[in-house]
Amino acid sequence: MRELTVLGLETSCDETAAAVVRGLPPGRGTILSDIVFSQLEAHRPYGGVVPEIAARAHVERLDGIVEEALAKAKVHLADLDAIAATAGPGLIGGVMVGLTTAKALALASAKPLVAVNHLEAHALSARLSDGVAFPFLLLLISGGHCQLLAVENVGRYRRYGTTIDDAVGEAFDKTAKLLGLPYPGGPAIELAARSGNPKRHALPRPMVGRAGADFSFSGLKTAVRQIVAQERPRAEDMAASFQAAVVDVLTDRSRAAMTFFRRDFPDSEHPAFAVAGGVAANAAIGSALSSLAAREGFATKIPPPGLCTDNAAMVAWAGVERGQLSLFDAMDVAPRARWPLDALGGERLGVQSA
Ligand code: KG4
Ligand code: ZN
Repeated sequence: MRELTVLGLETSCDETAAAVVRGLPPGRGTILSDIVFSQLEAHRPYGGVVPEIAARAHVERLDGIVEEALAKAKVHLADLDAIAATAGPGLIGGVMVGLTTAKALALASAKPLVAVNHLEAHALSARLSDGVAFPFLLLLISGGHCQLLAVENVGRYRRYGTTIDDAVGEAFDKTAKLLGLPYPGGPAIELAARSGNPKRHALPRPMVGRAGADFSFSGLKTAVRQIVAQERPRAEDMAASFQAAVVDVLTDRSRAAMTFFRRDFPDSEHPAFAVAGGVAANAAIGSALSSLAAREGFATKIPPPGLCTDNAAMVAWAGVERGQLSLFDAMDVAPRARWPLDALGGERLGVQSA
């Protein structure tokens, strides 16, 4: 085993990003450069991401951002061990731009290609930032996903719970829209909630106390819509009440998953509880989850906010992890709009649990 240096590209949603990361699993890794261009301004007038605008912006920006990432890291293509790009899941136009660019760079420099699953990149980010050992429990909370998983190894995940309707970030974004707060909703709600009364509105806590570790958020959003229509509440109070309900749901479901994890990995003495995805940047959620984990004997690991929201450093790190196991991809690997983590098939790849 030796350190690998990998260029990563991320274009699956509305950030165009490139980064160079060097490291050796289990981490930490060294981020030599981490360039993120957010397309927020281009999408803001529409209150959400417009796929065609996103794809066009990736095409326009990616080459320059790759150059910037290499220059800032002071490495040339020839110094790299591999080139990694998000190959899905995500908006297919953007994923195609990133993956095709990575293929061209890999061909031109005769370096191996790693087609990264975006969810795996989020999942492994706590190893990049904190060197977390396998197995660990992961709560993945983003705009498109809400899942609780045991991360057993690269490519090897055991799912304990998922959302049966909306993702939690989506609930933040939709609630913000109802309250007239700007897009993206998560940071706007967190800010408004700071000066609001979380007890002002009684909101439901969907799935709390139920068997299993699944989530549901659509009832919460509907309750907010009804109150907004009937009472014209203060946005701050509504934001605080909404966030408090989300905190209760996330902690209850995480507690359930911790029980499953203990059952499956009885030898893991002080396991890590990693939280990843854009919603993990929320400080109120982070502190509630940390307290829960402390009570349950788990060590909370939340990467810094820039590694929680979409970025290319986590993609490059996934490339380091896969590269170390020689899990490279052929040049005809296809981009995928849908690509669940439990379909990665670690067992079939011969990856052993560590
Ligand atoms: O991981 P991410 O950058 O993109 C996806 O892969 O989805 O997550 C974006 C989501 C958005 O829904 C955004 O509103 C939410 O993360 N988010 C937050 C915060 N910052 C971003 N939600 C709550 N509180 C925040 N501070
Ligand atoms: Zn993401």
